[in-house]
Amino acid sequence: MWPIECIEHKRDGKKLSSREIERFIRDYIAGRVAEYQAAAWLMAVYLNGMDDAETTALTLAMAASGQELDLSAIPGIVVDKHSTGGIADTTTLIVAPLVAAAGVPVAKMSGRGLGFTGGTIDKLEAVPGFRTELSEAEFLHQVATTGLAVMGQSKDIAPADKLLYALRDATGTVESIPLIASSIMSKKIAAGAKAIILDVKYGRGAFMKTAADAARLAETMVRIGRLAGRRTEAVVTSMEAPLGTAIGNSLEIDEAVEALSGRGGKRLMAVVKALGTRMLLAAQRVSTEQEGQTLLAEMLRSGAGLRKFAEFIAAQGGTIDWLGQKELTRCHNTYTVYSDQDGFLQGVDGLSLGQLAMALGAGRAKKEDAIDLHVGLRLHKELGDTILKGEPLITLYGKDGTSLDEAARRGRRALSISAEAVSVPPVISRYISCGE
Ligand code: URA
Ligand code: CA
Repeated sequence: MWPIECIEHKRDGKKLSSREIERFIRDYIAGRVAEYQAAAWLMAVYLNGMDDAETTALTLAMAASGQELDLSAIPGIVVDKHSTGGIADTTTLIVAPLVAAAGVPVAKMSGRGLGFTGGTIDKLEAVPGFRTELSEAEFLHQVATTGLAVMGQSKDIAPADKLLYALRDATGTVESIPLIASSIMSKKIAAGAKAIILDVKYGRGAFMKTAADAARLAETMVRIGRLAGRRTEAVVTSMEAPLGTAIGNSLEIDEAVEALSGRGGKRLMAVVKALGTRMLLAAQRVSTEQEGQTLLAEMLRSGAGLRKFAEFIAAQGGTIDWLGQKELTRCHNTYTVYSDQDGFLQGVDGLSLGQLAMALGAGRAKKEDAIDLHVGLRLHKELGDTILKGEPLITLYGKDGTSLDEAARRGRRALSISAEAVSVPPVISRYISCGE
């Protein structure tokens, strides 16, 4: 009896056909599969797994459950970039304008952040006037004319994933590679880009805790993307320490602008370079890695990337008069912690700093929470840097009228300083592209 047989097949470790999976998702959306049946099915998948064909069928069925953007009218190979989420990760706001400035159209739909800071969309809302809600026609028009658009994910993208994700959250079935991979890829596929570059993060501050698990997730997503007809590549990167130096929405915009002005940190720019090169290669704008790196470096050096950023912000209604003039962050209540010793920055506990930024008001604990776009923190040093006594370590940005004494102590405790020089492991762990 349908849909019980579909649950039983997975319970018994059988492989489901694409037709069974499509029908299950269609019936679930239509209310013909009860929540308890979907929950039982998810647990069976969690326990018994799914192979690539099943995972791809689930991905495509969830993508087809709502709106699917057709970007085919845009000339060239449109690329999208996705990060599984990290701390102080403003990569999108740097790499997307650089790649767009090189002539590759970038179309990105981005969810809102849940956790330490906002997502890219929340960060962009720190720019006065910036519109994150575009109609499909506006989005397509902007990608065609400006070469870059970033919009909030429309409610009608992969509604089946939205329902199943909430159910997974309530049934202990989130941490399953086929379920995570299909959830992420269903939204990317519905968003229409022909090429998808994934940044899969591991570490204390990330969803996947080890490089090996992140690589397994990345490999699965790359295979699904290919089976679904999209050029898909992934880079596995470390989130053992925050990527950049800013945690907080407008602070991260300021960091992106600095990076586009040639003053980006080493770790952040290593990831920008790795992802940007792969975006240029996937779009066939360059044919070798070396060519890609040279072109990206040129877009940065010439200021073309920064100009593209300004053009993109203005196209979505944001003010740009501050750009290159002053910082976007408007916060009068700041507190800087200085070092009381000489040494080297050995460790940065991104998780505690993320929690601290959240306590300051920069992130959401629940979907409905409001966030303060101008609070957060900024590090003055990167992993491995030399520190002299009396140099600034961290600056906290708080709401007016609040005391930052305790936050300053927490911020300082998140940094460990060693008397000896430290070696810093590379931020890029692996490239995953499963041959063509
Ligand atoms: N992000 C998603 O969109 N889905 C998951 O399942 C996990 C992370
Ligand atoms: Ca559809």
